[in-house]
Amino acid sequence: MHFIAPSLLAADFTNLQRDVTMVNQSEADWLHFDVMDGVFVPNISFGFPILEAIRPYIQKPIDVHLMITQPERYIESFAQAGADHITVHYEASTHLHRTLQQIQAAGCQAGIALNPHTPVHLLEEIITEADIILIMSVNPGFGGQKFIQRTYEKVAHLKDLILRRNAKAVIEIDGGVNLENAPYLLSAGADVLVAGNFVFSSSDPIATIHKLKHASLP
Ligand code: DX5
Ligand code: ZN
Repeated sequence: MHFIAPSLLAADFTNLQRDVTMVNQSEADWLHFDVMDGVFVPNISFGFPILEAIRPYIQKPIDVHLMITQPERYIESFAQAGADHITVHYEASTHLHRTLQQIQAAGCQAGIALNPHTPVHLLEEIITEADIILIMSVNPGFGGQKFIQRTYEKVAHLKDLILRRNAKAVIEIDGGVNLENAPYLLSAGADVLVAGNFVFSSSDPIATIHKLKHASLP
């Protein structure tokens, strides 16, 4: 069964406790937490104070997605603030092998995120070291963008690589996920679907999470 990770970026920041409680009560598996530095991506989101504030209330693993340059500078701080998974961008990491080890040594699952332009074959020598591969299905920086159709092919390539290398990494998809594309992403090999606006802008987020959790091709 695949996992669903609602993205806090699309929550109502004046009602964070209410939205975190909703995630607890839903069939969501992880809470996705987007950190943006205004340098790696053209937007600034949130960081340690918000992570520390929600940590006592959330009952699911926190899946931190670092859209920041030189993420290795902040791994221990995010682990201490309550991250369960830490995903860094391939494009932002000069010594990715070392950074994954650093994340695992801090007690977290280690992920690698790929921008839409970054090919899956660049993971050939690192795939067996990662716990999570996050494929961006929009350009990172903003919620509510349109899903990039080429993602299906990329997921299938990644699935092939994982099987060929006998790697353990799960495949996470982030950006523009909805009930139209979810069944095709899952059939291409996705294990985890992040959903921001599709969940939090819906009239019944718990029901929307339920539908994503049970999505499959007809
Ligand atoms: C985009 C973030 C995503 C975002 C997804 O840069 O990494 O996690 O919150 O939001 P939606 O599902 O609205 O595209
Ligand atoms: Zn994200």
